[in-house]
Amino acid sequence: MSMTLLHLRAARVWAHRQRIEHEAATLFTQLAEELDVTGYTALARRAAAAADDERRHAGRCRALVIALGGTPANDEPARVIELGPRHLTRRDRMLYAAVAVGCVTESLSCSLLLALREAAVHEQVRATVDEVLADEIEHSRIGWSVLAAESARRDVSWLRAHLPAMAAAAFDEDVKPMIGDDELAGLGVLPRGQVSSLVSETWTTVIGRGLERHGIAVASAA
Ligand SMILES: [Fe+2]
Ligand SMILES: [Fe+2]
Repeated sequence: MSMTLLHLRAARVWAHRQRIEHEAATLFTQLAEELDVTGYTALARRAAAAADDERRHAGRCRALVIALGGTPANDEPARVIELGPRHLTRRDRMLYAAVAVGCVTESLSCSLLLALREAAVHEQVRATVDEVLADEIEHSRIGWSVLAAESARRDVSWLRAHLPAMAAAAFDEDVKPMIGDDELAGLGVLPRGQVSSLVSETWTTVIGRGLERHGIAVASAA
């Protein structure tokens, strides 16, 4: 396949990542507000800074799409994204969002980006992956900090029942769009063959261990 065609196919994947980053900005903006309402002022500030990071990531992805010859996604106006079942209290929903976005999605995103970085040969792809990865590590820490603060105050084991839904959402919305053919690996697309080991490793080594520390057993979540 010609280089131009490969670039165009990779550009489509990165346009999707641009959308994901844009959505992440909305999620962190919402989380910042909920943290503030709960009284976690310092964590609220970190979440607001994360939202800024995500907007910058969306811009980097956009630039990369253009560099690869593709058409960037439209930055849709921010809308409210509801996470988790409606019957939860406001504070429980805040915790749900922090765990789903920070502990689960951002941890998976870190693993994904590490794998992409290893295979990336295109210079701007590498630079983009490096910049995004550095921030996603802090973003996942926000989730873990919220979970630690809440589990110090109350029983958070109820979250266990929601892990399969969180895992499925993180996979469908954040990992799946970055999967493609092996020949696109150098351009920041995850080869299909790596997907299941990447996801299961992240669950056993990072997410599962972290959750179990707070009394949330993950045995069959992933
Ligand atoms: Fe991001
Ligand atoms: Fe992030």
